[in-house]
Amino acid sequence: MSIVVGTKNDVFLLSTENTSYAFGIDDRGLVRHLYWGKKLTSAEDLEMPVLTEVSTNDPVFEITPEEFPVHGGLRYKEHCLKATFADGTRELVYQYCGYDLEEGEDWEELVIHLKDEHYAFTMDLHYKLYPRYDLMERSVVVKNEMEEPIQIEQLHSAQFHIPYENLNFSNVHGHWGAEEQQFTQRVSYGKILIENRRGTSSHNHNPYFILDRDATETTGEVFFGALRMTGNFSGVVEQTPYGETLVQMGINPHDCLLQLAPGQSLRAPAILCGYSATGFETMSHNLHRFALDHIMSKGLRPVLYNSWEATEFHVNCQDQIKLANKAKELGAELFVLDDGWFGERHSIQNGLGDWYVNEGKFPNGLEELIDAVKGLDMKFGIWVEPEMVNPKAQLYQEHPDWIYHYDTRVTDTSRVQYVLNVTKPEVQEFIYNMLDNLLTRYDIDYIKWDANRPISQTGPQRDIWYKHIQVIYGIVTALKKKHPDVLFEACASGGGRIDYGILGIFDDFWTSDNTDAYDRLYIQNSYSRIYPIKAMRAWVTDCPNFLSGRMIPLTFRYHSAMMGSLGIGCNILKFTPEEVELSQKMIRQYKEIRPIIQEGTFYRLDNPSADSYFLYEYLKEDKGVLFAFLPQSKVGHRGTTIRLRGLEENARYTLHTSQGDITKSGSYLMGHGLPLRLSGDYASALVQFEKNQ
Ligand code: GLA
Repeated sequence: MSIVVGTKNDVFLLSTENTSYAFGIDDRGLVRHLYWGKKLTSAEDLEMPVLTEVSTNDPVFEITPEEFPVHGGLRYKEHCLKATFADGTRELVYQYCGYDLEEGEDWEELVIHLKDEHYAFTMDLHYKLYPRYDLMERSVVVKNEMEEPIQIEQLHSAQFHIPYENLNFSNVHGHWGAEEQQFTQRVSYGKILIENRRGTSSHNHNPYFILDRDATETTGEVFFGALRMTGNFSGVVEQTPYGETLVQMGINPHDCLLQLAPGQSLRAPAILCGYSATGFETMSHNLHRFALDHIMSKGLRPVLYNSWEATEFHVNCQDQIKLANKAKELGAELFVLDDGWFGERHSIQNGLGDWYVNEGKFPNGLEELIDAVKGLDMKFGIWVEPEMVNPKAQLYQEHPDWIYHYDTRVTDTSRVQYVLNVTKPEVQEFIYNMLDNLLTRYDIDYIKWDANRPISQTGPQRDIWYKHIQVIYGIVTALKKKHPDVLFEACASGGGRIDYGILGIFDDFWTSDNTDAYDRLYIQNSYSRIYPIKAMRAWVTDCPNFLSGRMIPLTFRYHSAMMGSLGIGCNILKFTPEEVELSQKMIRQYKEIRPIIQEGTFYRLDNPSADSYFLYEYLKEDKGVLFAFLPQSKVGHRGTTIRLRGLEENARYTLHTSQGDITKSGSYLMGHGLPLRLSGDYASALVQFEKNQ
């Protein structure tokens, strides 16, 4: 058993292979945190400290770490839950009512039952343990068992306590075209708040926390948690005046009010969390492995060609067929027709909502293109943006009341579009039917689902900030049930929906509209800290890059995109014979290493050089791949040393470098390392290696 209950029935010790988490119930029924860190061997060692008030200004609620602080009493700290009862009472007072244990194939779950001492309102704290992955999922289910509704003003899924001050907090900042920009800041007194208020989850910050004590990739303590939610999240980190750091995350209370009708329950999005005593690498490995085994759909991702950057809105059947033929010649396996194929969609001005095939562009219907693609033995994918409508679209003319709006206000457009109120049953039906018809009528294997503007002016409903995405999850889940082989890519103006809420419901992430191969190294590096490589769609695109204006050699562009699930987004009809040949070679090589890239173990390697090398390793069983990038060599033009990771000390490995094969022991490659010197700007190398038999 990984969950052990102390003999006095008041202490719970939850252990994974290398970590432990502990809390207990004190004699007044408070659920108090006791420990999070390296593995403990006995629940009997745990003691519940006696609570004594330090002073009248430091009440016990403030000084004791609680698992799930509620709003009420002498609590002034951040609370996870605030509810208002029908009589106006805004205080919660819970009682402990026992626990339940459940077990599955590779998980165990502990549920702590709490109940308000006066009102028929229950709070179940869920701790689901995945011992093999050193991970736990925490969430809470609240239930209204009264005759009247209850209003939920705040619902964070869990609180965590870290018994240190001056930790480092990391997350990402960014915006469209610049997602996943990693930052780290020292936690000091006061609070750090990260959140999203736009209805998306991840252009600006991402719903996770990483708190470390000066950790490196391979050393030091790291506490982390990723929220399984898309949309408006909030997370608070606070260094308290009592010598510890607390962190909580959940549904953003900003402008949000959730009504719990009589008999209704609500499960807060889970936080997938863990502790590493061996740096960030262990954190990433545990999350990646868990995502591959438990969250993501199985199977290797196809090499795709997407025509967006080549044709933008100027789509027509014959040009798309030409692109498909060329894509096939290069080695692509999936052809994706992006925006511009439907309605009067000639620019961002019109078309969204009118999901019929544009006859001018496809006079013989979509079948002509799909048949051509299928005739090439490729899969076919298509772009949709189902949550949106242009004001000029027929759909909006017919249903102006289908958008989020206030009756007395003018609704703002963004990218000349409104957001549909997907909480209306008729809108849900419209979206589901539109997609179901599309998938039933045409032989489609891949849907790129976009959402290109933030939500605003939601109308009187204050719950849509939470409900909107639940509806989208529901629609996609239902579509997948009926069309189980179709893959869904989550895109929101690039990487606006990269989170553990959508992953599993959708299959892939569009990482960013920024396809500059150098910028992507930063984006991909920080993405990889939390999210699995297989879901990371990365394209090779034309130069000068439309965003950065940079010229980057095609080899570097391929190598950068081969670090994820490879795609090509160039205008390949303009490729020279040399570019065609290089592409064929790269795509062939990618297919060979694809299982290692998409399902292997990923290492961000140390660069000991003064020159800014980016070094990465992928390892799967006996085979591996190394990537080295040198965007710009500095004066001195130094080489670097690649110290590999994860090898067997005594085994021998053969590396296939451009200078010839090198055979060394695992201990040598991990200790001494492989010297490498790249020169010039945008230089890169890919080295395959394997263990000798
Ligand atoms: C968004 C996406 C792009 C592309 C366009 C189409 O910006 O991120 O990849 O699909 O929409 O309009």
